[in-house]
Amino acid sequence: MSTRCDRTSAWGSLQSQYDTSGRDFDLREAFKNDATRVASFSQEAPFLFADLSKNLVDVATEKLLFELARECGLEAHRDAMFAGKHINSTEDRAVLHTLLRSPDATPEVLQTLDAMLAYAEHVRGDHTITDVVNIGIGGSDLGPQMAVLAMAEFVAPGKRFHFVSNVDGHELAGVLRDLAPEHTLFLIASKTFTTAETMTNALSAKRWFERAGGLDIARHFAALTTNVEAAKAFGITTTFGFWDWVGGRYSLWSAIGLPIALAIGAEGFRGMLAGAHAMDEHFRTAPLAQNLPVRLGLLDVWYRNFHRFTTRSIAPYHSALKRLPAYLQQLEMESNGKQVDIDGQSLTYGTSPVLWGEPGTNGQHAYFQMLHQGTDVTPLEFIAVRDASHDLEGHHAKLLANCIAQAQALMVGQHDAGGHKNFPGNRPSTFFVFETLSPETLGAFLAMYEHRVFTSGALWGINSFDQWGVELGKVLAKDIEPRLASGATDGLDASTAGLLVRLKPA
Ligand code: F6P
Repeated sequence: MSTRCDRTSAWGSLQSQYDTSGRDFDLREAFKNDATRVASFSQEAPFLFADLSKNLVDVATEKLLFELARECGLEAHRDAMFAGKHINSTEDRAVLHTLLRSPDATPEVLQTLDAMLAYAEHVRGDHTITDVVNIGIGGSDLGPQMAVLAMAEFVAPGKRFHFVSNVDGHELAGVLRDLAPEHTLFLIASKTFTTAETMTNALSAKRWFERAGGLDIARHFAALTTNVEAAKAFGITTTFGFWDWVGGRYSLWSAIGLPIALAIGAEGFRGMLAGAHAMDEHFRTAPLAQNLPVRLGLLDVWYRNFHRFTTRSIAPYHSALKRLPAYLQQLEMESNGKQVDIDGQSLTYGTSPVLWGEPGTNGQHAYFQMLHQGTDVTPLEFIAVRDASHDLEGHHAKLLANCIAQAQALMVGQHDAGGHKNFPGNRPSTFFVFETLSPETLGAFLAMYEHRVFTSGALWGINSFDQWGVELGKVLAKDIEPRLASGATDGLDASTAGLLVRLKPA
């Protein structure tokens, strides 16, 4: 178990560092005074380069952050995760999503992967299946959806992919409108096979299938779940399983990734696993000072707890990464949005920031005004891909130029005595570079992010792998639903009762 960051001596040293030089740190001065700054704050990692030099940090501060990591026992905690210790203590579970991408995984894991990929190849070759509908929510939706979009260039022609997550029937109805049962494969993706939204959508899909004359459920429905019994009770016999040591938001590497395998094939899926595994090895073995997820996770702590920044923005300069911010929101905010430590004791410091973002250059024409001239500082993360996968003239150079220029503008600023055209500058950003957007680079980037979230969570002394905060709303919705029909408001607060009356069907 790790030691809480505020119980270390490095924590106090970091506060002094912040008070003496951190608060007024100026990036422009830092570059002027240190010719080696780019080298010191560049980090190569498998399939990924990161320029961290435009962050509000210097070598001395980073050294204290490494000390903090050591005092907190980050390395031991990391090793405990890889060794399968039950670090998810509130659910008494191991955290082993890294095993799913390890070539040395257990025979059971490897056989399950082989079976799922063989099925994916079979369906890819079945030209009567033109539409794949993934029904799932949260981790059973965001990862596969984000990755299928990200890998658009590699997706086999002849198949369309649909993702239905919301219990709002408009979503499923809109998808079903254009489908024919004999050409459709439904994937019911749910780790627990109990999630209300998914079960409601799955039931409606099954009803639609049967009413539209569909006959062969075994051929047209597959379940991706740890709860094989529940899938069977639902009437699905084609099932790909996984294990309770795979958290929902860490599950795209498991059977939950079947839509990705259907889209890019077994080789592509294995490429994604290989990219992630290379990053796992980097995280597991690189010294803290050359460890990209560690350096980023420590910076996250520095920003959240000393600079007290409350949000971070993601700016992928590649339209195929448009669902990446939504995916990262669940990964980071569901993991680290906690207010008690692993022992249930209240924390006196902030944890997960709010993550948000849109692909560049769209964000530039919407909220970048605030990033450049607003009163709050928001660290930004740029993601640029060197090689385009289209041949439209001029576009990619314009895209990349914008990406580089925005990071530059945020940092250098521009003086204007009149005020309105003044850019304060000194606004921090991290710049990630992929050479290409491939299964390997995507896998590596996602694994890097998982480990970065692990790092900040470990320092904060929280359990990054449970999600009790989603439960209360689920329970209350179960109570409200019958009241919407009956109109009963007994025991409710006045506002909830008023809304119920207003929304009660006429
Ligand atoms: O409600 C939150 C959550 O439990 C997420 O953690 C999870 O990814 C999602 O619901 C879906 O859960 P399941 O895969 O069990 O349907």
